[in-house]
Order: sequence, then structure tokens, then C-alpha cells
Amino acid sequence: MTHILHRQISAVLPVASGGKGVELFDSNGRAYIDASGGAAVSCLGHGHPDVIAAMHRQADTLAYAHTSFFTSDIAEALADRLVADAPAGISHAYFVSGGSEAIEAALKMARQYFVEIGQPLRRNIIARKQSYHGNTLGALATGGNEWRRAQFRPLLIETHHIDPCFAYRFQEAGETDQDYAARAAQALEDKIIELGPETVMAFVAETVVGATAGAVPPVADYLRRIREICDRYGVLLLLDEVMCGMGRTGTLHACEQDGVAPDLMTIAKGLGGGYQPIGAVLLSQKIFDAFANGSGLFQHGHTYISHPMACAAALAVQEVIARDRLLDNVKAMGAHLARRLGERFGNHPHIGDIRGRGLFMGVELVEDRSTKQPFDPKRKLHARIKKAAMANGLLVYPMGGTIDGASGDHVLLAPPFICDVAAIDAIVERLGDAIGEALRS
Ligand SMILES: Cc1ncc(COP(=O)(O)O)c(C=O)c1O
Repeated sequence: MTHILHRQISAVLPVASGGKGVELFDSNGRAYIDASGGAAVSCLGHGHPDVIAAMHRQADTLAYAHTSFFTSDIAEALADRLVADAPAGISHAYFVSGGSEAIEAALKMARQYFVEIGQPLRRNIIARKQSYHGNTLGALATGGNEWRRAQFRPLLIETHHIDPCFAYRFQEAGETDQDYAARAAQALEDKIIELGPETVMAFVAETVVGATAGAVPPVADYLRRIREICDRYGVLLLLDEVMCGMGRTGTLHACEQDGVAPDLMTIAKGLGGGYQPIGAVLLSQKIFDAFANGSGLFQHGHTYISHPMACAAALAVQEVIARDRLLDNVKAMGAHLARRLGERFGNHPHIGDIRGRGLFMGVELVEDRSTKQPFDPKRKLHARIKKAAMANGLLVYPMGGTIDGASGDHVLLAPPFICDVAAIDAIVERLGDAIGEALRS
């Protein structure tokens, strides 16, 4: 008997009772290797003593003060740190309680920016199919994940979606990476022209696509081309790094590897590593200046923005990552994970693609490797894999609808930055067994 409206009403969930390092424990004493950090959240694993100590210190000092009355030392310190390490042009941070709130705030920043600079016609948002930007109404409207949107469509603002940069599914046979990147980016320019450049406000994209398509990185110079197109038409580039950012791909920001700096960036999950709910928008100087020289405010706000406990957890997480040089470990263990996945699944008849960056990897399942034919969605292979993995003491993040929101299955892996070779080997071993069991069931 429960009084919680759980995600699945009939599901009988184990009770999480603790966690240490790469493992979570349930109340029956079972241990699970957390190979996905929930949804790419727990970047430091569980029970990290330094983060817990920082949260204790903050609780003893100041738990909460409303931001219309006060700022706090801890929020200022976190903003200083994030801006110091941010891509070129980013000058300020805005702290919220998660990824969806960050997207909502960023969309409003984009809109207010154009109002402030005297371009009030700019209202159109262009994003990509097979993307996820959150579940609040603005974020859901922006995302291109069909099954999540379907029943809420009458409530969603109008947005526009182009095809993603998704090599395994969209690159044509014989097409070079360069040519495919150019073709995929051209879709943005075509859409801007179709809508009228003077009406387009922002292009929104996950630097590396996460939950919806399973760790899909951009190809060749795709993002640089996107940046150029945005600049050509005065459109803001909003990179959503809620899932792929904050070190997950081996650099603090995934877009560093593409040589691109956005006008707005959203971060969350790995920012606080699950120790507290926190997300942020990182905004560029030109947006800040437009507000500062215009109305003098950002017309937005929530009760818990810049929450001191959340900021303390996030600052501690980021300090541990830097102090322990964990991004080096993400690169090394990411390479090991890619190697081990290749060894285990490279010749597997039902694994069509292994992809990703750093400790952010996806494997896509297919019925037939030569035609890339997916499994019948009714089989819910992704759900079977999740169940079999849990029974094997492994937490991974499988999802269906990989290709178009209806068909396709993938498994997303996002192990903690503290993992070692033994943990990676165990993850691949248990995943292989779980996939085998799910395929047989
Ligand atoms: C890329 C991306 N953006 C936004 C969100 C929404 O974040 P939250 O669930 O914290 O609201 C998610 C969550 O999975 C995400 O992956």
C-alpha cells in the first residue's frame, strides 16, 4: 500500500535504502552497480563523504533565504566557479532546481533578450526531433520526443523541429561525415528561412543527445556549422547539456569538444550529482547586458532559485571532480568502456550501434543488423533489459522509441566518474547477460 503516485501505478518497486561508491542497496540487502546514475545524475556515485560534509556545513550555516531579499555566499561562489570554467562569452549563472526549470528559464531569457533589443517579432523556437528537454510544458513543447508529447499536444506552444544529427539512422550509405554534417546543419538554415529569420528566437539542441536516442554525438563539424548559421541570422544557440554536460563526456562541457560556445547553456544532473536538486542556465554577456541596459531585471523567478543547500552540494561536487582530477578518469574509463562494449557487442547479431562520448555511451538494439530493422515495439525489449539487468544487480537506462518515438530500443550507460576498470568490466558483463536474457524471454 502506497500513497505515492508512482510513475507506474502497478509496479512493485524495491526500496532504496543506501548507497556507497558505485553501488546502491535496497532494503532487502541487494546491491546494484549504478551504471546509469539514475538518468546520468550520480556522477560521484553515492555517499561521497566530502559532499555530505559540505551539505552538513551549509545546513549548520544557512538552509534558505529568499532571493528577493538576499544573495548567499555559497550561491555566489558556485556562480564564480561555473563562470570561470564556462565556454567563451558566458558571464552569469541562474540557479534553479532541475533541468526542466533550466530550459524554461533559458527560453524566457531568449524571448526577453529580443524584446529588450527591439526585435519583438522573434518568438519561434527551432529544436530537433528525437530530443528531450524536460517535462514542463515549455520544455515538453521544445523537445521532439513524440510519445512524451502526444497526449499533451493541445497544451503545448507551437515549436518547430528539424531532423537530428544522428549518423546511425540518418547518414546515407556512401555519404562522408563532412557531407552528412553539412546536410544535417542545412536543415536549420532551411527552417529559419521558411519561418522568416526575423521571427526566429533560438535553436535548442542537446550537444550529445541523451535519453531519447541514446548518447548520440554530433558528427564532424555539425555544431560549428550550426553556430555559424545561428550567427548569420541572429538566432540564439541554446545548448542543453543537462544530461551530457558537467564532465560526463570527458570535458566539463560537451561542446568544448566541438569548439563551439553557446549563447545559453542549461546544466543540471551532474551539476549536483543527485546530492541536491539543482539546475542552472549559463548565459552570455550579451544577454546579461541586454537585461542590464534595458529593463534592469529578468522577469522570472521561483521560490527555490539559488537555494543555498543545493548550491553547497553542487559546489562540493564540482570541487571534488577538480581536486581528484576525475575528468581524466572519465576519459580513461570512457575509452575502456567503449573498448569493452566493442569486444562484447561488436559482433552481436542484435546490437546495431555502439556510440557516445566519455562515460556517456549507448547501444542500439536491432532485429536485423544488415537492414537496421528494429524490434517490434510491442515486445518492449528495453523494459525487459532493464528488468533483467536489475535482477543481475545492474542499473542501466534503457528506452524505446529510439528512431522516431515509436520504434527502436537502446540502452544508455552513464557510470559514475569514480568508477574503475573492475566496475566497468562488471557493468559490461552484466549488461551482456541481461541483453541475452531479455532477447530469450
Ligand atoms: C537533455 C535534458 N534536458 C532536460 C531534462 C529535464 O531535466 P529534469 O528531469 O531535471 O527536469 C533532461 C532530463 O532527463 C534532459 O536529459
